[in-house]
Amino acid sequence: MRVDILDAGPTGALRIAPSILAADFGSLAGAVEAVDAETDWLHVDVMDGHFVPNISIGPPVVASLRPYSSRFFDCHLMISQPARYLEAFKRAGADGCTVHVEVGDTAAVVAEARSLGLRVGLAANPDTPFEAVAPFLGDIDLLLLMTVFPGFGGQSFMSEVMDKVLVARREIDANAIRVDLEVDGGIDAVTAPVAARAGANVLVAGSAIFNQPSPVDAARAIREAALAGQR
Ligand code: DX5
Ligand code: ZN
Repeated sequence: MRVDILDAGPTGALRIAPSILAADFGSLAGAVEAVDAETDWLHVDVMDGHFVPNISIGPPVVASLRPYSSRFFDCHLMISQPARYLEAFKRAGADGCTVHVEVGDTAAVVAEARSLGLRVGLAANPDTPFEAVAPFLGDIDLLLLMTVFPGFGGQSFMSEVMDKVLVARREIDANAIRVDLEVDGGIDAVTAPVAARAGANVLVAGSAIFNQPSPVDAARAIREAALAGQR
């Protein structure tokens, strides 16, 4: 097993995380290499057909991609039994794993991820209140506030989640908590500055990057728009 994880970079810095869910699974390595210059983290969406009504990829794909990227692998586990698979993801080359608070048993799952040496994220669906994740802020490295209901790429950004992002950013800053604040779903060059202004610093984008004629240019445009939107 890889003992070390890649450096995630300074907490709170703006990061663009292309989501490979929108890439061509027939040529994933090439897709990942093509956006490398504008990739801070690579976002890997894992779906089990149970927690979400879709199935995507698992540890073998992470392992296969690992030699093609030196970026931090930000694995988003949309699965009902994350504790069962954390070690397999770590072994495959995951650097961070994010689990959903809705699956429950959060303290134990977070502790398990931590004990494996992973960077630890906690995700909340659009209709899950900030109060559900607030008790864990001191135990995690990343808070992911979903801006769509998870399961599919290409959905529309839910701007109403920005109220929760604002509350989370205020809480993180007021208590000097070292936690990245990530948003995922419907992020493009128009919504990225909205999310950045509300306080998100890790922006996941799938279709707005990979479904474009030039994915690397699209990622750069999202970064520039987000920088302009930051307060
Ligand atoms: C949704 C996934 C997202 C998705 C984002 O369940 O967690 O990461 O790939 O895709 P876009 O950017 O197309 O909304
Ligand atoms: Zn995701």
